[in-house]
Amino acid sequence: MADKEIIILGIESSCDDTSAAIIRDGVILSNVVASQKVHEEYGGVVPELASRAHQQNIIPVVDLAIKRAQIKRCAISAIAFTRGPGLLGSLLVGTSFAKGFSLASKIPLIDVNHLQGHVLALFIQENGVEFNPPKFPFLCLLVSGGNSQIILVRDYLDMEVIGQTIDDAAGEAFDKCAKVMGLPYPGGPHVDRLAKQGNPHRFEFSRPKIPGLDYSFSGLKTNFLYFLRDNLKTNENFVEENLADLCASLQFTIIEILLGKLKRAAKETGIKEVTVAGGVSANSGLREALKVNAQKHGWNLIIPKFEYTMDNAAMIAITGYYKYLNREFIGQNAVPFARTQL
Ligand code: KG4
Repeated sequence: MADKEIIILGIESSCDDTSAAIIRDGVILSNVVASQKVHEEYGGVVPELASRAHQQNIIPVVDLAIKRAQIKRCAISAIAFTRGPGLLGSLLVGTSFAKGFSLASKIPLIDVNHLQGHVLALFIQENGVEFNPPKFPFLCLLVSGGNSQIILVRDYLDMEVIGQTIDDAAGEAFDKCAKVMGLPYPGGPHVDRLAKQGNPHRFEFSRPKIPGLDYSFSGLKTNFLYFLRDNLKTNENFVEENLADLCASLQFTIIEILLGKLKRAAKETGIKEVTVAGGVSANSGLREALKVNAQKHGWNLIIPKFEYTMDNAAMIAITGYYKYLNREFIGQNAVPFARTQL
């Protein structure tokens, strides 16, 4: 197998980004992402609109990814697609497209778990860029709009969730609290930006008392909502007048919750190789706090490149690459699943 190059087309359509990427022998050749702006005015992803937008985007996005990679369609070794978890209507678009493409071009299919993709994004290589992947076993804090998990990664395809949210994800807490402050969707990056000018210790918000390595963010969200509601009764400009401090205090609390369990996981497992993945890992406060903790606890911290932390098809293609090496293919009977574990 080593003498023939392996070219994987990755397709991602689990939520509101339509993406296609080409990876050759683990090295990225192209990664095209079409983000859907249509949801902004609704303050959250509207599943029906997401499916329709995927349907419109999928062919031009795949076409562009192949063109940018400067490869021929017939050179593709396998098509890797996100099978779940995600929005079912969105997943159906990518899955059906991948199946059709596979059947018409006689190219094998590989199904990919979106969460595994987020973790394996750490192994995407770029031409001319030093490759510094984590060493097994490592811990990955996976924080996105739909997930908050601590994953023990033993090998490329051997992962165990050792802690996870029992309700909302960290990204949801960012987005929903941002929404009640009147910030645009998705709110996470806005909170991050505003927090830089605020005092993180100005307001105290509740922290969950959950046993083990699990997370919970619904209590914080409710606490934040009631706190604003109570203060708005006496001052209708409370949010505007305190926006930066509110964002800084909220972000500080979310980071404290995330890092509390991560530190515990590192201590309990004795693992010092620590990584982060998912959209929320773009948060500057979280990145800083991770660096501080890495120094303090002697962790070897690996933070992926920003563009590979958000939903993208490069992470699906790299996972497809490792599944290809393992000869893990799937047939035309593949159906997407909205909810799944690793
Ligand atoms: O992984 P991702 O692209 O997709 C989903 O799981 O949906 O993550 C999106 C999430 C959103 O909740 C968004 O607000 C959050 O990542 N996010 C951030 C930042 N950038 C994106 N949260 C906090 N700070 C950021 N800088």
